[in-house]
Amino acid sequence: MEKAQWSSHISFIIATVGSAVGLGNIWRFPYIMGKNGGAIFLLTYLLLIAFICIIPLLCELFIGKIYKKDTVSAFAEINPKFKWFGWLCIITVILIPCFYFVVGGWILNYIWIFLTNRIPDNFAQYFSSFSSQVTIPCFLSILFLLMTSIFPFRGVNKGIEKANNIMMPLFALMLIIMAVYAVTLPGAKEGLTFMFKPNFSQFNSAMVLTALGQALFTLSIGMGAIITYGSYMKKDTNIIKSAYTLIFFDTLIAVIAGIMIFPIVFSFGVTPSAGATLVFISLPEMFAKLPFPSITGLIFFILLFFAAITSGISIMETAVASFINQFNVSRQKATFILSIIIGIITIPSTLSFGLLSDFSLNGKNFFDFLDYTTSNILLPFNTLLICLIAGWCIKGLWKNEIGENFLGYSFNILLKFIIPVILIYVILSGI
Ligand code: PFF
Repeated sequence: MEKAQWSSHISFIIATVGSAVGLGNIWRFPYIMGKNGGAIFLLTYLLLIAFICIIPLLCELFIGKIYKKDTVSAFAEINPKFKWFGWLCIITVILIPCFYFVVGGWILNYIWIFLTNRIPDNFAQYFSSFSSQVTIPCFLSILFLLMTSIFPFRGVNKGIEKANNIMMPLFALMLIIMAVYAVTLPGAKEGLTFMFKPNFSQFNSAMVLTALGQALFTLSIGMGAIITYGSYMKKDTNIIKSAYTLIFFDTLIAVIAGIMIFPIVFSFGVTPSAGATLVFISLPEMFAKLPFPSITGLIFFILLFFAAITSGISIMETAVASFINQFNVSRQKATFILSIIIGIITIPSTLSFGLLSDFSLNGKNFFDFLDYTTSNILLPFNTLLICLIAGWCIKGLWKNEIGENFLGYSFNILLKFIIPVILIYVILSGI
């Protein structure tokens, strides 16, 4: 079977940006930044992205381009001994949707309530009673899973590429409208100060690990998603330019999301450290007080839906591509089997807020356990191994791909020595 390919360079960039820009930027980034001191977190996160994450991102793109294979086959081809590591990436990418799609289900519910103008009086009460139910949240998580699976099911060009080419520009447009609206609110100045004026006394090692986990999560690094999307790129794609474009857009969108959310938060006197519920309680609470609550709320949650589904598609596709080759099954069968596996794990995760709220792993409910373990443990660990494997086991990677020049030498030294040491340090001190 001929290997699928993006139909143009721009489609490749849109799809990769679609993978990177997701709930990580709009749901996770503002609440984690709010909890970790605002501007100082933003500064650490930006430095980590510019000087550290760019290297594993380039490695994943190179691996995709050189081997043109799914994640498991690519690592097995580098050395059959590394096949297990390919599988570890796939396990990581299977665990992520098990909490990500729960949030997807909540988004569907909020779209429904704003669309039908059934805005509750008290969102805190509403969210806790809604998320603790059994049937509706489970039904909506599974519905979100099915909506996402349709695209990998239909294939790279007809499904994934089309979805991204339509949803991502719409997403960007809605985000800009909302951000412009937010900066005209009375609390804008305070919100922007919180975001951009660092307080260095809040700097600590746990915050650095959280910033690293967030940077990897938001750039979709450390689980083979970029390897998979990279394997569909055309031969003449310039990887360095693509990596910078991806980082530029992902960071820009996270910052615009902050510019949209913090002025709203400060205008209505909510604490920015409210946590994971910021987007589902505080924001809608504020929308309800604004002039056109159902329209603002609806735009915001549709925006969140586009962001979530384009990332969800890349999550599914990463696992689907490996299942097709490892189990020798059709794309449709692979998508079907994976949807069942993910569905089974997603249900207890959805129930973490009600029926299973007393069940805890390492002091966390199942949902938080999945979120924490993937972002703060598996992603940094996988990224470390990706750097070590690419640096030490792919012969002449930098010579062939970047060239024997200053950039190539610096890349080589960073990849082999400096980045692994920094990653080990951040992981150990953060834990
Ligand atoms: N980068 C996505 C986000 O910020 O929401 C999340 C994600 C996408 C994680 C793709 C994993 C993945 F394979």
